[in-house]
Amino acid sequence: MKTKRFSDAMEQALNKQMTREAFQAQVYLSYASWAEVNSFSGIANFLYKHMHEEREHMFKILKFINDRGGEAKIEAIDAPAENPKNIEDCLKKTLQHEIDNSQEIDKLVNQAFEEKDWATFSFTQWFVKEQIEEETLINDLLDKYNLASKQKDGNANYYELDKDLNKAPQSAEIPREEEF
Ligand SMILES: [Fe+2]
Ligand SMILES: [Fe+2]
Repeated sequence: MKTKRFSDAMEQALNKQMTREAFQAQVYLSYASWAEVNSFSGIANFLYKHMHEEREHMFKILKFINDRGGEAKIEAIDAPAENPKNIEDCLKKTLQHEIDNSQEIDKLVNQAFEEKDWATFSFTQWFVKEQIEEETLINDLLDKYNLASKQKDGNANYYELDKDLNKAPQSAEIPREEEF
């Protein structure tokens, strides 16, 4: 049993954020499956991979809580909202989820600052940077969508976009068939 090195309030706040990251993963998973069913394999590929990144965020927070003498509590994850209406809706909703999450991270940073909990403050800086990257990534995809849908007609737009998404940088891997 480790000595607890943060306040009860901070432990609760970190735990909530851990569950929120699990929710983010759930959202990406549901959007990815929607994209796959609707034949957008590139978008599905991107979203499946991103789902893994969100799970990694969840795990990172779990480890921090436990390593700092707290106890991570695995709680129920809210169900994601209904499926997107189309690709644009999918990207816009994804961006909004990321912005909402960034605001929650900001609250954590603020709390750490107010409590003068510099270890947690330092830990949360990684998430601040990560959220900048993620918002930029989704914004870029929305820009590409806008370009593709304005400059060309027909399904060629989506075909090109889908190819782009397939190549979008993601650190996580999709599990291979034999791992299922
Ligand atoms: Fe995340
Ligand atoms: Fe994210």
